[in-house]
Amino acid sequence: MPCKIDTLGKITRLLTGLMAEPPCVAALATVDAAGGSRVRMVVVRALALPQLEITISSDSRSDKIPQLIRSPFAEVCIWAEDQRIAVRLLAQWTIISGSQRAPQVARDLQAFWEAHSPRSRSIFAGAQPGGGYRPPRRRTPVRGSIESYPMNFAMLCGRILEIDAVELHRDGQLRWHYFRRVGNAWDKRRINP
Ligand SMILES: Cc1cc2nc3c(=O)[nH]c(=O)nc-3n(C[C@H](O)[C@H](O)[C@H](O)COP(=O)(O)O)c2cc1C
Repeated sequence: MPCKIDTLGKITRLLTGLMAEPPCVAALATVDAAGGSRVRMVVVRALALPQLEITISSDSRSDKIPQLIRSPFAEVCIWAEDQRIAVRLLAQWTIISGSQRAPQVARDLQAFWEAHSPRSRSIFAGAQPGGGYRPPRRRTPVRGSIESYPMNFAMLCGRILEIDAVELHRDGQLRWHYFRRVGNAWDKRRINP
């Protein structure tokens, strides 16, 4: 049976195709302070497998941020519905937030902020995520007057360490596992689904 996940080139093309038709929605899992698992949907904003980079935006006041700071090795799972393929990416996460004022950080954050739609930017005007409901303070930003990013805007930068892909077929599943070796090459194994 033809396999769509047996080379990194194929997985890269699959993910590039998903990113070409936004939003690329994924589940991001973290570990909370009590050691419990937490999971939520996120939009993958950038994904470059050759560069081992995955980027997500979030509110720095949300629960996932301290969880990622405490346990920075966390997985993202992407489901490609039409191809019936799940790709899990284990990454080591670094949080860059609006409260960090180094010039290069500020430039990167501003560019990332401007790549968000007005609707996405307006989400950051809301009150504390997870707190009791309060209506947003500011009106929705409009294109053409992109303000600077707010302090609670955060860029979650993941360095991809491991790739695990499962392909569903009518008559069974295929699964390949890729993990990083010392150096730049990936070690690849076919494993039981
Ligand atoms: C389709 C979808 C996409 C979402 N994308 C994001 C996102 O990119 N970043 C984010 O912080 N929350 C996103 N959310 C909201 C999260 O799922 C979650 O409710 C919120 O971030 C709070 O999570 P936390 O309390 O675990 O931090 C999205 C929700 C849905 C349903």
